This record gives sequence, C-alpha cells and structure tokens, in this order.
Amino acid sequence: MAAPKVAVVGAGLIGLSTALCIVEACPSCSVAVLSEQFSPNTTSDVAAGMLIPHAYPGTPIHVQKRWFKETFAYLFAICNSAEASEAGIHMVSGWQIFTNTPREESPFWSDVVLGFRPMSEAELQKFPQHRFGQAFTTLKCDSPPYLLWLEKRLKAAGVQMYTRKVSDLWELHSEYDVVVNCAGIGARQLVGDEKLFPVRGQVLKVHAPWVKNFIRDGDGSTYIYPGIHRVTLGGTREKDNWSLAPDPRTTKDIFDRCCSLEPSLQGAQDVKVKVGLRPSRQSVRLNREVLRQGGVKLLVVHNYGHGAGGFSMHWGTAQEAACLVGECIAVLQGSSSRAKL
Ligand SMILES: Cc1cc2nc3c(=O)[nH]c(=O)nc-3n(C[C@H](O)[C@H](O)[C@H](O)COP(=O)(O)OP(=O)(O)OC[C@H]3O[C@@H](n4cnc5c(N)ncnc54)[C@H](O)[C@@H]3O)c2cc1C
Ligand SMILES: *[C@@H]1O[C@H](CO)[C@@H](O)[C@H](O)[C@H]1NC(C)=O
Ligand SMILES: *[C@@H]1O[C@H](CO)[C@@H](O)[C@H](O)[C@H]1NC(C)=O
Repeated sequence: MAAPKVAVVGAGLIGLSTALCIVEACPSCSVAVLSEQFSPNTTSDVAAGMLIPHAYPGTPIHVQKRWFKETFAYLFAICNSAEASEAGIHMVSGWQIFTNTPREESPFWSDVVLGFRPMSEAELQKFPQHRFGQAFTTLKCDSPPYLLWLEKRLKAAGVQMYTRKVSDLWELHSEYDVVVNCAGIGARQLVGDEKLFPVRGQVLKVHAPWVKNFIRDGDGSTYIYPGIHRVTLGGTREKDNWSLAPDPRTTKDIFDRCCSLEPSLQGAQDVKVKVGLRPSRQSVRLNREVLRQGGVKLLVVHNYGHGAGGFSMHWGTAQEAACLVGECIAVLQGSSSRAKL
C-alpha cells in the first residue's frame, strides 16, 4: 500500500498536537492539516494555557489522570530544555484559595503537579478574605508561542497546512485514507454533535511584569495567570453563549475581581480583551468511527470536546488519537493485502 494519507481537521492546540503525534508514530504517513483558522485566530490562542485540570464528569478519573500525567511529563521535559522559551513553556508557582474548606482536599491531579500542599498561615495573610488554600507549582504554555512552535515542528516534518473550511467530512474521502476531527466547537456543526456546547470565556491580557505567582479562587471563576510576557486575568463561564464580542461591563468586573485578590494589578497596563468558546462536553470525544455512504467507507478518528482543560490534557489525548489512527491504517493495510490475494 502507498503511504497512508491522513487529514487532520483543525489547527488549534488539539489538531496541531494530534498531527505531531501522528507524524511521530507513523513516519511513513503523509499528513495534512486543514483548518478554517490558524493561530492567532483560534480558541486555543485565547486560553491562559495553565496545566490545572477541570474534571470531565463523563470520563473515568483514571483516564483523565493518565492524560494529565502524560501531558505534564512531556511539557516538563521541554521546559527543562533549550527549547523552553521559544515553545512558551515555563513553570509557575502559586495559590488556589478558598473562602471555605473545599469539598476535595486533594484533587486527582495533586500528585502530578509539583509540591502540592496546604498553604501556611503566613501565606494566607496575603488573602484576608480567604480561610484555606493550596500551594503548588505547575506548567503554563503561552499561546500563541506554543501553537507557532507546534506549527514549526510540523512544517519541518513535511506536514502541509491548508486554510480550508470543511463542511462535511466526506469532502475529504477521495483524497485521504483517514480523517481526524479536531474541530473544537466547530465539531458541533461539522459532525452534528449536539452534546457539544460552548462555554464562553472572556479574559484580559495585561502587562504587569511584577506579578510572578498565579492566584486562582477555588471554583476557578477568578484567576491571575502570569505568562512570560503578559498576565491573563479571568474570567467567565457562560454556558451556551456564542458571542465572541468582548463585553465592557464584564471587562470591568474581571478587573475588579482580580484586583481584590492582587491589589497591585491596579497598576497593570496595556489591557487587551479576548473571548473564546470552550468546546465543552460531558466527556472528551476520542474514538474511531467508520462512516458509511452506500458501499463506501470513511475512516474517522474524533478528538474534540476538551472544554476548559485542553492544555492540561492535550498531549495525552493526542497520543491516544495517534494510536487510533494507527489502528485505522492497520485495517486499511489488512484490506489492501486481502485485495491483492
Ligand atoms: C478564556 C479561556 C481560558 C482557557 N484557559 C485554559 C487553561 O488555562 N488551561 C487549559 O487547559 N485550558 C484552557 N482553556 C481551554 C482550551 O482553550 C481549550 O480546551 C482548547 O483550546 C481546545 O482546543 P481545540 O484545538 O479543540 O479548539 P480550537 O482552538 O477552537 O481549534 C479548533 C480548530 O478547528 C478549526 N475548525 C473548526 N471547524 C472547522 C471546519 N468545519 N473546517 C475546518 N476547520 C475547522 C478552527 O478554525 C480551529 O483552527 C481556556 C479556554 C478559554 C476560552
Ligand atoms: C487572523 O484573522 C485576521 C482578521 O480576520 C486575518 O487578517 C489574519 O490573516 C488571520 N491570521 C491567520 C494566520 O490566519
Ligand atoms: C452572551 O454574553 C454576552 C456577554 O457576557 C451578553 O451580553 C449576552 O447577553 C449573552 N447572550 C446570551 C444569549 O446569553
């Protein structure tokens, strides 16, 4: 059989990382990325990119933990390499604070991040309105740099990138052997998945280089996530809201909430407002599907629906998607060798 041709639909974090895992797992494959938008115009470009999971209620915890561990280990190695700064990956320490003792004193990911521990009394003095907190060190992927670095690695591996909106996966049937759906919230229309819904998030990206530690309130509604160049202030979680327009009242509300946790942010400058739609679902859709039209088959792998935790999970899910692509190719090679007999 000739080199299998794989199309990855979507050039956000999930599409790019999945394409890279496919290239690594199948060097003989010819891989193309087809996407309506590229960085800096994707949801992934809006995200803070912090590695702090948000549990998916429909995915077993041990699976989520494996995805997170694989992602953390992979990024930790890059963080400790000479590539770290170009890739936009760095370590950041900080605090998750609560007004009451949290339901879960140690979340499932507490032994994956580094140095997870209850905050000391001295640390809690910084937050007079809070009674309890947890300190830890985690990783952050700044976007766009991380996305651009993934694109660069894909191009170096010979992957073609095309700007193209795909209206129906069958469009790709004559040209590709396997189609990988990483369309994020776009999958709702592309494959008619009504279990997928947007959770609108508005954030501010500000210049405040003196802020070095992250601060997040325990339910994740207000957060301060310092990156290499800018600090992300958030946020909102507006279920089923499709509006990409920044809301000025929300901007002021986010800024006020963040200043109440970190008063020095009053001096922040160059405030830019961004909005993204989290591709949310009860569980990430990560599976193989054979579409049939008449007697014709189309082999598809889905990898979308990462909601509020795409950065935290992306490498684990990309590895698993690449395995599923490998299974599709084995099926194709099986049928082509049978055809030769
Ligand atoms: C405000 C905010 C803050 C966040 N902070 C964090 C965080 O700190 N940590 C974390 O882990 N996660 C965070 N997230 C979540 C994270 O951003 C998402 O889980 C992740 O970006 C999803 O990536 P994706 O590649 O699936 O989607 P996207 O980035 O939306 O990419 C989808 C791609 O598919 C393309 N596409 C869609 N439909 C079609 C079509 N029909 N044809 C061709 N192309 C198509 C799009 O153009 C795009 O390129 C945050 C999200 C938001 C909104
Ligand atoms: C992002 O969107 C802007 C505005 O539509 C456009 O000018 C730019 O070319 C886009 N960038 C990429 C990389 O597609
Ligand atoms: C969507 O969110 C915006 C900004 O927060 C708000 O102004 C608008 O009313 C919301 N729309 C719906 C349909 O809820």
